[in-house]
Amino acid sequence: MIKIDKNINKAKTLSSKFYTDNNIFEQSKNIFEDSIQIICSSSELIHLNTYPFTYFDGFLDENLLITKKDGDFLCLSNVCTHRGHVLAQCSNNNDVLQCKYHGRTFALDGVLKNAPGFENTSKFPSDDDNLTQVSLFNWNHFLFISFNKDSEIFNILKQIDKILPDFPYSDLSKAPIRNEYLLDCHWALYCDNYLEGFHIPYVHKGLNDDIDWKNYKTEILDQIVLQKVRSKNLNDSIEYDSGGDMYAYYFFIFPNIMINYYKWGISINVIEPISKDKTRIKYMIYNLKGQSIPKKSSSSVDMVESEDQEVVLSVQKGIKSRFYKSGQFSPSMEKGVHYFHRLISKKIFNFNQ
Ligand code: FES
Ligand SMILES: [Fe+2]
Repeated sequence: MIKIDKNINKAKTLSSKFYTDNNIFEQSKNIFEDSIQIICSSSELIHLNTYPFTYFDGFLDENLLITKKDGDFLCLSNVCTHRGHVLAQCSNNNDVLQCKYHGRTFALDGVLKNAPGFENTSKFPSDDDNLTQVSLFNWNHFLFISFNKDSEIFNILKQIDKILPDFPYSDLSKAPIRNEYLLDCHWALYCDNYLEGFHIPYVHKGLNDDIDWKNYKTEILDQIVLQKVRSKNLNDSIEYDSGGDMYAYYFFIFPNIMINYYKWGISINVIEPISKDKTRIKYMIYNLKGQSIPKKSSSSVDMVESEDQEVVLSVQKGIKSRFYKSGQFSPSMEKGVHYFHRLISKKIFNFNQ
């Protein structure tokens, strides 16, 4: 059992068992089943009607499909309702889905259209023969889905709109720079590290030269942690907010999405668990029209990423020590990590206090 005190002054971090125990790792699937997840931007589907993907490859392993029907986006099960063949193998712009196994066809809203060989089958077709729909929400051109059937779950994203109401989403590049890599660590260790700026002067010396670290701020929203920091140099400052001197807004959407707003655009990290010590980081960068990513190598996104990976991999080793169980939070610097640990404790172990 892992209980996190709501008083940060007294609380202890998640016990090392959380990061090292296989059963607890399996239980963490519930967190992801219940969460909202970003899939892609709608601009990536401009010329496509279907976009198949494996949802959390190696973890939840669900075959899903985004379709576009009459301009609306839908998320469907990509598994044929006959004997379970995976329907679409690659993106295309056909206006019907046909199963390659026995020829069943479906409309792009998942409704069964034709099923050769089933002419004399009784009570056929029924609703069970249509493809299951998964909740989808189009947030500022980004398509989010969830297995949670409560559509209100997507409302947490509106908190970002309140903070950055003037962000010009339609000026973002249509095709992002996409990258992904595997890291030999527990998924939550990567998130823990993201959720505090405490380590910046020690780990990111180049970044620290660019920002006003002493005024680093962390705000706890509903299921979201916002970290924001001012820029030392007005040339690096964000222009689409009211402050005029911000270097970045870092939004963490529980349990695993990071959306970072910079002067030049946004970067998105999606942290996907594979096993208790293997994690996939999906990385997308969208530039704003007329802006380019700064070249300065000491504080570049790539440099900061590799510095972060180094410390996360070191913690992954240290967390297995027989002498380490858990630590305490810095009340001034680790509010975000504390909130993250409390949400985990609540969602997996049902602690709510
Ligand atoms: S599995 Fe699809 S038609 Fe048989
Ligand atoms: Fe970092």
